[in-house]
Amino acid sequence: MSFPDLSCPHRQVGRQVLFYPSIDSTNEECRRLAQAGAQCGTVVIAGSQTSGRGRQGRAFQSLADKGLYLSVLLRPQAASMELLSRLTPWAAVAVCRALEGLTGLSFSIKWVNDVLLEGKKLCGILTELSFHGDGALDCAVLGIGINLTQTREDFGPTLSATATSLGQHMAVPPTPAEMAGALLTELDRLWRDFPHAQEIYLEEYRRRSAVIGRAVRFPREGQTIQGTALGINGDFSLQISLPDGGETALSAGEISVCL
Ligand code: BTN
Repeated sequence: MSFPDLSCPHRQVGRQVLFYPSIDSTNEECRRLAQAGAQCGTVVIAGSQTSGRGRQGRAFQSLADKGLYLSVLLRPQAASMELLSRLTPWAAVAVCRALEGLTGLSFSIKWVNDVLLEGKKLCGILTELSFHGDGALDCAVLGIGINLTQTREDFGPTLSATATSLGQHMAVPPTPAEMAGALLTELDRLWRDFPHAQEIYLEEYRRRSAVIGRAVRFPREGQTIQGTALGINGDFSLQISLPDGGETALSAGEISVCL
């Protein structure tokens, strides 16, 4: 597959864009490039991934040329862990903006990092941090996988119950290069906005939430707890009301939304 050179000297994110027809993981390649001294904003895109990574140690299905598999190497200056944890929800907002601009469809966000189309997962985001031996942050790698043309058969029976692609909702979905171009514009904007535009991203994240007001389940101390998602707090944690009348705030982990 040929891929246009999307490198742009005026951008902070995407000044250098590297394309690999196939690679183990674009996140892993960004980490290797970071160790070799690559600059902040370097982008890696792959036609397919042989070891695409998802959250919680899961694999991310990365079929050749059917999705966009893209990672950005970021080098935040003096950012606290609290600030760094905002990168994933901010990226979810950026992905929604890029998708809406290209397709005219509406997208929502399932806390914390899944972008949904008509209730099914269209995009996953995995942010990974690398540290120097002395504990100082080396880089953050923001990895984004967007499903473009996978069929239900490509996903298989289990995944197709929860995952979708743009091709299942529109006659002519964007190509990986078109999707990458739109996404880089939004990621460049995100990086220019980070971290001062928190209120804008937070408000948009709340507005796009697919979980507020819904019954949700989450694991705690070996048990599955059910509650109701009340809202997104200022640090992007999810406020949940519990059956005993109490409340809790989830700042990491995964929830399932009850049907
Ligand atoms: C998830 O939904 O669990 C996160 C999926 C993240 C997948 C992307 S694809 C590009 C980048 N490279 C990887 O190995 N993972 C991320």
